[in-house]
Amino acid sequence: MNVYSRRRLLQSALLAPALPFSVRAQMHSPPEMVDRPSLDPNTLARFVDPLPLGETARSLETRPVPGNATRQVPFYRLAMRQIEAKLHRDLKPTRLWSYGDSALSPILETRSGQGLLIEWANELPAEHFLPIDHSLHGAEPGKPPVRTVVHVHGAKVPPESDGYPEAWFESGRSRICYYPNEQDPAMLWYHDHAMGINRLNVYAGLLGLFFIRDGFEDGLSLPAGKYEVPLLLCDRLLDRGGQLYYPVSGDPKSPWIPEMFGNITLVNGKIFPYLDVEPRTYRLRILNGSNARFYYLSLGSGLVFQQIGSDQGLLPSPVSLKELALAPGERADLIIDFSAHSGQQLVLHSDTSALAQFRVSRLASGPAAPLLKALRPVERIPEAEAVKTRRLTLNEYVDLKGNMVLMLLNATRWHMPVTEKPVLGSTEIWELVNVTDDTHPIHLHMVRFQVLDRRGFEPFTYETAMTVRYTSPATPPSPNEMGWKDTVRAEAKAITRIIVRFEGYAGRYVWHCHILEHEDNDMMRPYDVIAAPA
Ligand code: C2O
Ligand code: CU
Ligand code: CU
Repeated sequence: MNVYSRRRLLQSALLAPALPFSVRAQMHSPPEMVDRPSLDPNTLARFVDPLPLGETARSLETRPVPGNATRQVPFYRLAMRQIEAKLHRDLKPTRLWSYGDSALSPILETRSGQGLLIEWANELPAEHFLPIDHSLHGAEPGKPPVRTVVHVHGAKVPPESDGYPEAWFESGRSRICYYPNEQDPAMLWYHDHAMGINRLNVYAGLLGLFFIRDGFEDGLSLPAGKYEVPLLLCDRLLDRGGQLYYPVSGDPKSPWIPEMFGNITLVNGKIFPYLDVEPRTYRLRILNGSNARFYYLSLGSGLVFQQIGSDQGLLPSPVSLKELALAPGERADLIIDFSAHSGQQLVLHSDTSALAQFRVSRLASGPAAPLLKALRPVERIPEAEAVKTRRLTLNEYVDLKGNMVLMLLNATRWHMPVTEKPVLGSTEIWELVNVTDDTHPIHLHMVRFQVLDRRGFEPFTYETAMTVRYTSPATPPSPNEMGWKDTVRAEAKAITRIIVRFEGYAGRYVWHCHILEHEDNDMMRPYDVIAAPA
């Protein structure tokens, strides 16, 4: 299937909503995907490289936190550099960007309430090696081509450390950010967020994992140490020489493509890696770090596994699954029991594609503690607590040829005045009205939220008459969405409702679609958390 020919024919130019301003005038001839010949992953030997487990970042010293000279916290320095990494035994080294020395950036480890400081240093070359689209907002010609700003996805941080997309810094510069980590344990992740080129920077390799833990979680005796395995998944395209490339539209003035889909999956920075495991339970911490690809993960022949956590930490109780859907930006915490598979090899798949292999040894070095039925209680936020309900549309715009040219939140471009201004400490319901034919993973910075429900509706009536005509009853979130989330799949032609407590800090944050091509072309908006009146 050619993913690029996925034209939204249903959404003809006539039905497409009017553009918020004269973007149509800037449109160019129809962008047709011009692809370099890519490396066929089927030509590569499978399961010849061990799965890299990553290195834990080490702090250099302690330093006082901003505004409190008596409180010392660990200080880290992570430098972004261009590196060469072996992605597979039989490939030549591939040029990538990383926050460390390898394709899997250093892993940050901390405890709830243990703050830390990170100096993010941009030591990248002055030129970008991926195709910048200067017609995109924030990537205008004249800006330094290599610009970075780091965001810790899922972190509750003061606004000046959140990685605002316009707060980028160029090669040779660095920025110190403070992460208080006053939040429940979870696997967060850090990644680039520079306006207009975010998709390219992340694709080049600027992403990594960030763990927060606490004593409560320690007390659950979940598999730990070598029995806890991070899995960072992302899809890429390599050319026949094994070099990373990012496809272009064919229109030199506007090389942006609506979604990047690779045919190769990097698992912790390797293609088709394997991991030796014992016949016992393991804890897998999975991130979908892809630009646009959704994963549908399964193991072997329908092996049942348990999901114990989602984006923002543990679920109230384990959920049995045979297949796990994971959108870009989402995380899952899984328990897999290999004890019935000693001496066997199990393959992690997404749909029918093999991603990685687990080689189960004959003997376990010791027994694993049984999985508890109750994990961390998640109190449901009552809907009555919401002081405001916002209805926010998700929009896509096509040109006269049916090519996707723009995506927006609430039909509003990035630089328009801020419209979402929740009060610090208040609770709101956001209704994500997806009038498009695509699922958009919607992410809010700084906060965690709960999914209330999803309900099918009729987009045409909505767009023409501004009335909601429901086409189905509301469906509750699936059991593995009953924990705290920071990214939610807003499904096509459905209204997805989330409930959010704006706890944390006042200031300017962003919310956006986590399909990075959408985010860069303009499916991102600032929002302000307003300090509550004294
Ligand atoms: Cu993964 Cu704006 O974040
Ligand atoms: Cu984020
Ligand atoms: Cu999107």
